[in-house]
Amino acid sequence: IKKIAVLTSGGDSPGMNAAIRSVVRTCAYMKLECIAIYRGYQGMIEGDFKEMNARSVNNIINKGGTILKSARCEEFRTPEGRQKAHAQLLKNNIDGLVVIGGNGSFTGALKLNDEFNFPVIGIPGTIDNDILGTTYTLGFDTAINTVVDAIDKIRDTASSHNRLFFVEVMGRDVGHIALNAGVGAGAEEILIPEQNLGLDRLLDSLKRSKASGKSSSIVIVAEGDKTGKNVFELKEYVEEHLPIYDVRVSVLGHMQRGGNPTCFDRVLASRMGVKAVESLIEGKSNYMVGIRDNQLILTPISEAIKAHTAIDEELVRVSDIMST
Ligand code: F6P
Repeated sequence: IKKIAVLTSGGDSPGMNAAIRSVVRTCAYMKLECIAIYRGYQGMIEGDFKEMNARSVNNIINKGGTILKSARCEEFRTPEGRQKAHAQLLKNNIDGLVVIGGNGSFTGALKLNDEFNFPVIGIPGTIDNDILGTTYTLGFDTAINTVVDAIDKIRDTASSHNRLFFVEVMGRDVGHIALNAGVGAGAEEILIPEQNLGLDRLLDSLKRSKASGKSSSIVIVAEGDKTGKNVFELKEYVEEHLPIYDVRVSVLGHMQRGGNPTCFDRVLASRMGVKAVESLIEGKSNYMVGIRDNQLILTPISEAIKAHTAIDEELVRVSDIMST
């Protein structure tokens, strides 16, 4: 293997830049050429490539987002689009590809491998932490710290005004951000898609809270939760059924995807980048790099995209006990 390309695709996440840096520097260390592909699969189709060297990635380990830009590409979903993309890879003499992204990005990588036997290795980059085969995805740790920081601030104003806040957090179909940040920020209730306990239980819990002397409360709502009500509808519902509360809503939104990566994400990204390049050199393909018990592991991409990671039941129990 002589030349490796790297791209970021799908929703960006903090730590992607640190992973790009690691791939580029590992290539330089191993005396391989490295090509950056801009704008994910769209850039691959259009040949938006740039040669990288160790100095091209100076001062990016600390930056959120992705210097390579990201895109969700419809054309790559078609066989014709993938044909064009593959032709660009061949034209540029690229022998292997590192894809940094989430489920959608890996599905694309898998197709490229299935159809053209092109060597690919994935690095999981998403704040949602929803990919099988790794305990942590890049950006998750930064995102939960961002959310905890935001909730700490909301708590200041909530307690000053004796208010109840519904705070909506990201996570697509899973509740990892909500559960972890909720426990970390001491939320009174956490509503996640994996566990729909119903609205009655929420009202009971809020009633008990008030009766026990709590003057303000924070309820974290995962965007994919299954109560059937969004945060604004939840506010109306509680105002109607429990008029003892003055309720406000805060949707944290895309600020959860930005910001400087935590040290954890930077270290993880650096380790995963080295492992990805080494794996391609060893002739491995179609694997995603993950981490379990602090050891880097490889999981077939086909397995990684099959399902979402299960919620941590022990943490659910801790959260129940803490909200007593
Ligand atoms: O997958 C990351 C994520 O931020 C999800 O948590 C969220 O549901 C989605 O992306 C938002 O996507 P977009 O940036 O396209 O609005």
